[in-house]
Amino acid sequence: MSSKNKNNIFQPDFMWGASTASHQVEGGTVNQWSVWELEHAKRLAGENHAKLKSLPNWEKIKSQVEDPNNYVSGEGVDHYNRYKADFDLVKDLNLNSFRFGIEWSRIEPKRGEWNQQEVDHYHDYINELLKRGIKPVLNIWHWTMPIWFTDMGGFAKTSNIVYFLEFVEKIGKEYGHKLDFIITLNEPNVYASYSYLTGTWPPQEINVFSFVKVFWNLTKAHKQAYKILKSINPKLQIGIANQVANIQAKRPHDVFDELSTKWMRYFWNWWFYERISHYQDFVGMNYYFTDYYTGKIRKQNPTIPINDLGWYMEPGGLYPIILRAWLRFKKPIIITESGVADSNDSYRQWWIEESLIAMERAISEGVDLRGYFHWSLLDNFEWATGWWPKFGLIEVDREHGMKRTVRPSAKWYSERIKQLKKNI
Ligand code: BGC
Repeated sequence: MSSKNKNNIFQPDFMWGASTASHQVEGGTVNQWSVWELEHAKRLAGENHAKLKSLPNWEKIKSQVEDPNNYVSGEGVDHYNRYKADFDLVKDLNLNSFRFGIEWSRIEPKRGEWNQQEVDHYHDYINELLKRGIKPVLNIWHWTMPIWFTDMGGFAKTSNIVYFLEFVEKIGKEYGHKLDFIITLNEPNVYASYSYLTGTWPPQEINVFSFVKVFWNLTKAHKQAYKILKSINPKLQIGIANQVANIQAKRPHDVFDELSTKWMRYFWNWWFYERISHYQDFVGMNYYFTDYYTGKIRKQNPTIPINDLGWYMEPGGLYPIILRAWLRFKKPIIITESGVADSNDSYRQWWIEESLIAMERAISEGVDLRGYFHWSLLDNFEWATGWWPKFGLIEVDREHGMKRTVRPSAKWYSERIKQLKKNI
């Protein structure tokens, strides 16, 4: 008890962090996504024009949306080479934790062949975080995979899980002793849906059977990965980061709206966690949305406020989500991602401020909340929408030497963390 800070709801070891993913920032990655980007950049430029032209910020984003280069991750934001300087910025922002991805295709470019130089790269990467007193939170799988693995059918084939597990074992043996937390999978719900149900992402299948299979195989992959990692280091805290929405009924007294809300809450938010509930030490949640559902399982959200991507914003929705997860699982909770696409930096401070209030409220009601990782540290490659959406606490100017500029909201966030740490 003595180390606890009585006047501050957030305890001294609360993880104040930011998140990234290898493919979105590193640059120079060669995986199934980078191949797909090059094949589809032109098509995406055309389709996104049609999809996004009704956004209020259309005039501002138009030239980027219409440019095929926008859809190619290419040099990334050169985080692969600039990680030390980026970690100095993490430190300057008063963050004490950092969530990052390990790029599978770098470590195992050919099946069963480990690239020692890349293995060493991530050793150095983790050491540089530790040197600065920043807790590394390693994320194993954030959607990108080596081409040899997806050529074999990826997670759509149960017999392929073993290859993923070989990678997991390698990660555990190499880095497991340096870490407290490992996230095995990022948003299996989003990946399975976009890649196998809507056909938006590679491999662009629209097949409900493949969707179910992939979703199911990812639960298996996680459970096995959990066992392997625990056998290597029993102290590791292991979980996933699922995308969780604050799902509400559009008309709360309408029985159909209520039914579809209940179904969506279960299916989208909780189904995966339920499958792995004996194989997770914490519940990792990525929060971006409050969604209002009508009886036909259709979203009908208010039209304002929206972020640059047109997503309706209700940061306070974090509170009900935390509370529901706590009541359901009674396990420590980590907000593994949360943020806004906001190139003018008009909403980010408000988003974080409201998130802090939601978290304070949950903690004061007894929830064991361990950390908040803002998405993202840096402006990054936003998958099928490319470079124009700006999620970074730190702006990156890719046209001018990858120049980093700390956004005003990030300065505010860092001051706020300092105050919270000082018990004000
Ligand atoms: C993903 C990130 C992505 C963010 C914003 C999350 O679903 O994990 O990779 O950049 O949302 O779209």
